[in-house]
Amino acid sequence: MLSDSVVEGPLPNSREVAEFRRLWDEIAPIGRDPGTGGYLRYGYTEPVRRLEEWFAATATGDGAHTVEPDGNGNLIAWYGPRPGPAERAGDAVLLGSHLDSVPYGGGYDGPLGVVSALLAVRALRRAGRTFRRPVGVVAFAEEEGSRFGVPCLGSRLLTGALDPQQAAALTDRAGMTLAEALGGTPAGARPDLLARIGVFVELHVEQGRALVDLGAPVGVASGIWPHGRWRLDFTGEANHAGTTRMADRRDPILTYAFTVLAANKEARQRGAHATIGRVEVEPNATNAVPARVRGWLDARAADVETLDALVEAVRAKAAERAARDGTTVAVTRESLTPSVTFDGGLIAAARRLHADGVPVLPTAAGHDAGILAAHLPTAMLFVRNPTGVSHSPAESATDEDCAAGVRHLAALLDDLAGR
Ligand code: GLV
Ligand code: MN
Ligand code: MN
Repeated sequence: MLSDSVVEGPLPNSREVAEFRRLWDEIAPIGRDPGTGGYLRYGYTEPVRRLEEWFAATATGDGAHTVEPDGNGNLIAWYGPRPGPAERAGDAVLLGSHLDSVPYGGGYDGPLGVVSALLAVRALRRAGRTFRRPVGVVAFAEEEGSRFGVPCLGSRLLTGALDPQQAAALTDRAGMTLAEALGGTPAGARPDLLARIGVFVELHVEQGRALVDLGAPVGVASGIWPHGRWRLDFTGEANHAGTTRMADRRDPILTYAFTVLAANKEARQRGAHATIGRVEVEPNATNAVPARVRGWLDARAADVETLDALVEAVRAKAAERAARDGTTVAVTRESLTPSVTFDGGLIAAARRLHADGVPVLPTAAGHDAGILAAHLPTAMLFVRNPTGVSHSPAESATDEDCAAGVRHLAALLDDLAGR
């Protein structure tokens, strides 16, 4: 544990706050929509490439000896000892998060974890610490799944949770495949790389108000609710809005609308979450009954049985309504993330670093840490978000709290890898 000014107590000093702001300002304009202030940082697009260039340059400037692409779009900057002989495999400490955003998202979801990891490494190096284990900072690709539909795309590929051929054929909204965006089929599972990593810690802006209510700048995650995405394809018959009698219509938007309400009700009844936040209508004409509606259901629950029951209930209600509307509905699962419990030893290590105690919180948000948790000890730190809002430009965190997060991460890194 550090005994000097780098990590003495939980509160950052003004130099650390200013340093956070300086680094944050370097990336703040990248991919920001001037109208809304929201971010358009989709995986494998120009804004993310610029962020990755910045990431590589910053890490190299701070002493990274290698910046390693994994062939899936993920990028790892390595510091400290180089990967050792086979008997030392699995000893690296990996920190980081993702650089992409949801459409018109906030700036903190993802980049805060990358920036804080870079700053944590910098703080230890400045304090004269060296690393006894390899230390990596990772920028994961397409965590939000906003472009190709599968969340945590980069970490799923790296860990082998997603077949690279299947991933290569995923298309974005303009019809471009992942293979085209990446310039080839992704490398897929990298057991060699995964075997070098001993633990992973992801710092993230909190996506709720628990830390505000607790009056704590930083928290530790206990686990992640199981969650997934389902595509709902409603098909009816396109027809004239003026001349088609109401009784003669086969209108899929009615089935869709009923399904949206049913999903909300079924989720509420189970203490679960269901959202249909994306919809496409064809032909999307004011004066035509639509031919097709495609919606995406995002469903999350405290346990997998509740999640299964929720999705099944939505499916049954939609099918029942389709029979009444003369339409059809097909439900296709596009991704599923099982329940995650983070590593008890790492949670305890993160909590004991501060005498005041650090709250432990569950979350219903997905994270790359949740994918890596199936393979290695993993933990997450959360930084207080005054609005509690996320996936929106209203997402925020104060510079002081972000710097407190850096301080906490630096202390944990020092505990795990410092010398
Ligand atoms: C990621 O932010 C997710 O939970 O959708
Ligand atoms: Mn997110
Ligand atoms: Mn995130």
